[in-house]
Amino acid sequence: MILRDMTEADFDAVLRIEREVHGHPWTLGNFSDALRSGYASKVFVIEGEIVGYAVMMLAVDEAELLDISIDKAHQRKGIGRKLLEAMLSLARHENMQRMVLEVRASNQAAIALYRASGFEQIGLRRDYYPAANGREDAILMGEGL
Ligand SMILES: CC(C)(COP(=O)(O)OP(=O)(O)OC[C@H]1O[C@@H](n2cnc3c(N)ncnc32)[C@H](O)[C@@H]1OP(=O)(O)O)[C@@H](O)C(=O)NCCC(=O)NCCS
Repeated sequence: MILRDMTEADFDAVLRIEREVHGHPWTLGNFSDALRSGYASKVFVIEGEIVGYAVMMLAVDEAELLDISIDKAHQRKGIGRKLLEAMLSLARHENMQRMVLEVRASNQAAIALYRASGFEQIGLRRDYYPAANGREDAILMGEGL
């Protein structure tokens, strides 16, 4: 398995996963903006197949994880944890002091992954996300690096 930079040639595979695993998926425009803005965007490849990806914004001394997704067929095999660890070590390498992220309050799988990797809740944004029935809170999480 390898972790490499995402390119435009990966967008079809990335969007297929994104639409499969998110109720409110990122669009093609969101991914091209991320690449154009120079966000750290990585794909996780096993035997030539993209099985997951992550996008992270590096600010002055703070990294913000904007997206991390694993193909449904490959979930619960430790790939999300490996990918998150790789993004944490990339952020450390770039001299970031902490990593922050926002997650839907209902996303128990992601919250469990973040907790298992050392993140703690640092805030709450009420009714932040659009949801199937109205709005949903965002939980802010962070981890010192
Ligand atoms: C969240 C996500 C990235 C986890 O990836 P994954 O490869 O399945 O996770 P891992 O197998 O590495 O699991 C690591 C730990 O996270 C937790 N976890 C992962 N999936 C879980 C689930 N469905 N329920 C409860 N805990 C879960 C567990 O603590 C797990 O450790 P364990 O398997 O030893 O119990 C994946 O479920 C996903 O892509 N979800 C849809 C996209 C998303 O919500 N992204 C995050 C918000 S941007």
